Amino acid sequence: MAIEGMGMDASTFWATGDYGIVGDMWAAPGRDLVAALEVRGRDAVDLATGTGVTALTLAREGAASVVGVDISPGLLAEAARRAAAERLDVRWLEADVVDVPLPSDCADVVTSTFGLVFADHPERAVAEARRLVRDGGDVVFTSWSPNGLFGDIRRLMSRYHPDVPAPWHESVAGIRDVAGAGATVEEREFDLVFESPEAFVHLMEQYSAPILMARRTLGEQWSAARAAVLSAVRSSATPGAAGYVCRVPYWVTTL
Ligand SMILES: C[S@@+](CC[C@H](N)C(=O)[O-])C[C@H]1O[C@@H](n2cnc3c(N)ncnc32)[C@H](O)[C@@H]1O
Repeated sequence: MAIEGMGMDASTFWATGDYGIVGDMWAAPGRDLVAALEVRGRDAVDLATGTGVTALTLAREGAASVVGVDISPGLLAEAARRAAAERLDVRWLEADVVDVPLPSDCADVVTSTFGLVFADHPERAVAEARRLVRDGGDVVFTSWSPNGLFGDIRRLMSRYHPDVPAPWHESVAGIRDVAGAGATVEEREFDLVFESPEAFVHLMEQYSAPILMARRTLGEQWSAARAAVLSAVRSSATPGAAGYVCRVPYWVTTL
């Protein structure tokens, strides 16, 4: 499976950098998603689980069973380490979200935070999510809203790839094209907290796969791109007691 424009398979791509470091900065949406679902006693599958932030929350909140699925063995190893540290019972499964080796109707809740949306064939990923969930169950996934910092950063990076269209998950119409006309899309927000705008950009260019890969592929153009990203971060963040805070909108799609 190739990431568009990257010529790299998804497993290698997402193993670039250290997703655990940056992903923990935006773990709140997964926690809020689980809190809103009332998962106690229900069977759950978290697709594209990464280091397992959402799967671990499902287990903490009393789901009857939790399976975390991801294509990256390295990220699953980190997820398993975190589960062991908290003595949480989660099954970790290395698989592509478009072809999950689990039986149909095995879950009451299927989640994916900032994960399924990155599949090469999102319609197939959504079809898999629907296949896994029992009648009356919940399928919920998140994506970055175009109306906030991550939308701004994505658009800044896209200036260097003008031929690549905006992602399907940055418009409600695009989401409904992929996930069905009945999908509901709700914008929520969380506080992204970092030491300073400069420190945040530095973390992103070292550890976030999309930004690290942009830095590598842009070469000399990176310093101008970096300056634009830093300016976007500065204008969206306000200093607070624990560092800088940026209110970041994201979308929650429910099938
Ligand atoms: C931005 S991270 C999100 C991880 C996690 N859900 C979270 O909220 O922190 C994207 C994740 O999607 C996974 N991923 C991307 N494409 C995938 C695919 N086709 N099948 C399974 N996992 C995939 C990556 O390995 C990575 O862990």
